[in-house]
Amino acid sequence: MPDAAKEKFSPADTGKKLDHSMYASIMETLDLGIVILNLETSRLIFKNRVAAEIFHNNQSLLEYHNIMSLLLTDYASKPASEIFGKNYTLHFKNRLLGYTPYIASDSFIWIIIRDITERSRLESIAEAVNSMDNISYVFSGIRHELGNPINSIKMTLSVLKRNLAEYSPDAVEKYVDRAMTEISRVEFLLQALKSFSIFENPELQSIDADEFITRFISLVENDLRQSGISIGKAIDPGVTTIIADPRLLHQVMLNLITNASDALKDTQQPKINIRAAQHNSLVALIVEDNGCGISREAQASLFKPFYTTKPRGTGLGLMIALKMVTLMQGNMEIKSVKNKGTRVTFFIPGGRKKNAQS
Ligand SMILES: Nc1ncnc2c1ncn2[C@@H]1O[C@H](COP(=O)(O)OP(=O)(O)OP(=O)(O)O)[C@@H](O)[C@H]1O
Ligand SMILES: [Mg+2]
Repeated sequence: MPDAAKEKFSPADTGKKLDHSMYASIMETLDLGIVILNLETSRLIFKNRVAAEIFHNNQSLLEYHNIMSLLLTDYASKPASEIFGKNYTLHFKNRLLGYTPYIASDSFIWIIIRDITERSRLESIAEAVNSMDNISYVFSGIRHELGNPINSIKMTLSVLKRNLAEYSPDAVEKYVDRAMTEISRVEFLLQALKSFSIFENPELQSIDADEFITRFISLVENDLRQSGISIGKAIDPGVTTIIADPRLLHQVMLNLITNASDALKDTQQPKINIRAAQHNSLVALIVEDNGCGISREAQASLFKPFYTTKPRGTGLGLMIALKMVTLMQGNMEIKSVKNKGTRVTFFIPGGRKKNAQS
């Protein structure tokens, strides 16, 4: 350690003389770059081996004014509290440096510097691998989902083309209808994918839980009644408001009700219940049915894209619902017993009635 630093760093407060060579050698062996600047004399008074290496042992780079203008660009314009003790990064000669400056006794600046090029590269690779995994998974699903109807359209049209001269107008119409049905299926899938990204920015607002559920039920009960399904509502007295985006909430409920109604196709006395209950600062919204239920093995796949047991399902309904609930800072769980029924519960932030007991 240079003499100037030795003088300044004698620890008057401990009353004990430091063994400077010991401290200097500790700093030398650290795997971090350390530089110490003296603000009063405008000099760099210490740099360890790693710091020198980071700056390529270039003496002019390792000079007070250069370090200040490189690492402490805001020193003159910002208060110390906004500068010191904070983490910064700097691209320096093809490397990425991470550094933290500290101030001691108003006269010294310590800067700890790390070369984080490798770490950030590894992090970005890990991130990319992760998203590539998801993307290829989603792509293979889309390929499969679009591939089936498109194959079927191709086959239908080529049969039609080959036999156009012989087929009666009725038969031609039948083939065209078949192709149109498959095209609607593609359209439906594209629509489902659109709804996956459409609500990227939820607009959260305070919604009256009872009002929302009552209105929702009034919109779906006609369809349900036509399928012979009865629908019930039970809202705990403690529940008043939910903090949600009403469009998202509506879509989530719709996806869950559609699943419940599909599950009730072969059920005697089919019934769906919508309930709301307060759990601390969260409201649990519950959609339950007494339908076919879900086997234990299948339960593990419910939120995977394109997982479906339905001939015309896209397998995106639950995944979209989960994504929307997550956007509203909520979570979702599904409990189901095969041949008994299914209960989907999702929790979202919500308020309580001021006079509520629970
Ligand atoms: N209430 C339920 N009762 C029984 N099974 C269910 C229920 N909800 C979901 N499932 C099962 O989970 C699967 C996935 O549901 P999801 O809503 O994601 O897709 P889907 O309903 O098959 O197709 P869609 O994309 O049209 O919604 C369903 O195919 C079904 O097997
Ligand atoms: Mg569904």
